[in-house]
Amino acid sequence: MTPAFLSVRDLHVSFRTEDGVVRAVDGLSFDLDQGKTLGIVGESGSGKSVTNLTILGLHNPLFTTVEGEIVLDGQELTTAHESELEKLRGNKVAMIFQDPLSALSPYYTVGRQIAEPYMKHTGASRKAAWKRAVEMLGKVGIPHPAERAKDYPHQFSGGMRQRAMIAMALICDPDLLIADEPTTALDVTVQAQILDLLKDLQREFGTAIIFITHDLGVIADMADDIMVMYAGGAIERGTVREVLRSPRHPYTWGLLNSMPRLDSDLSTPLSPVPGAPPSLLTPPPGCRFHPRCAFQDRVGGNRCVTERPLLAPDRASACHLTAQQKHTIFIDEIKPRLRHGQEDTA
Ligand SMILES: Nc1ncnc2c1ncn2[C@@H]1O[C@H](COP(=O)(O)OP(=O)(O)OP(=O)(O)O)[C@@H](O)[C@H]1O
Ligand SMILES: [Mg+2]
Repeated sequence: MTPAFLSVRDLHVSFRTEDGVVRAVDGLSFDLDQGKTLGIVGESGSGKSVTNLTILGLHNPLFTTVEGEIVLDGQELTTAHESELEKLRGNKVAMIFQDPLSALSPYYTVGRQIAEPYMKHTGASRKAAWKRAVEMLGKVGIPHPAERAKDYPHQFSGGMRQRAMIAMALICDPDLLIADEPTTALDVTVQAQILDLLKDLQREFGTAIIFITHDLGVIADMADDIMVMYAGGAIERGTVREVLRSPRHPYTWGLLNSMPRLDSDLSTPLSPVPGAPPSLLTPPPGCRFHPRCAFQDRVGGNRCVTERPLLAPDRASACHLTAQQKHTIFIDEIKPRLRHGQEDTA
């Protein structure tokens, strides 16, 4: 079997803080093939951004411990030298950040900032890079791109900054694109344009995409596979169809139930998973989800409290319920309660 284009194995990322060690990612493994899209979902604080910043080597090594393996196209990244990572970033791997202001400098024009990585990685002239930057701004839907390229980020609206950052990420045709909530701040029409642009890029260049979003509609539209994260680990993984149509983890059931549908009436209150995510300083023993789980008694004994369920390599959920129990509970108890049509998202 050929190895995956991106392979993450038993990844652990922890931060030393004044309060103690925060275990933000704790034993995470996944694969992504060329030309495919992996959607990552999970509550705030589950480790989605930390995982992806680790792939890019963007954590401060003074406060961060990274263990495990990240292999991209045969190259091991957790032990790579900063100069090698520097070569990868913006070129082979690009990221669209959650917050555009963190990626754009206030001191340079937008055009220059988009042109810069292109010059650096392709050796193009300043003039050619500027032309390409203007072209990219046009592609992401900025009107009058030749003029707007001369603006500074503060002269752009939030949505325009987001699009500028997307232009910057795409300018070198990366092999791996990490998109962290890339369209959340955009209106629906622009969002659709950007998603189409990403799909075109993928079709043309075989780009692999990691797509982080809270929007299951977007996941259903964009992703091949889904990974559901909880408290620093993957608790369920499978194809979009499998996970959205027959989810097998109690947390995923709660998540599906809490997602608003695109056409939902906004006055309908959401029903989020009761309880709060655990502390990453002192995570609960056993299954990290057990304090919020309504199905522990069906497992029997004390297993959920004492034994951490593991995720098998392929289609899987990290839960001690048997496969038969997961199926029956979903069909009999969960599915009928989901908002009408939710199960048809895929
Ligand atoms: N540099 C850091 N130092 C200490 N703790 C951190 C650091 N970066 C992230 N964390 C913690 O790691 C956990 C995971 O954070 P992360 O940003 O990955 O969450 P997320 O899943 O991306 O959430 P969101 O949906 O809100 O973006 C959080 O508890 C966060 O507070
Ligand atoms: Mg995040």
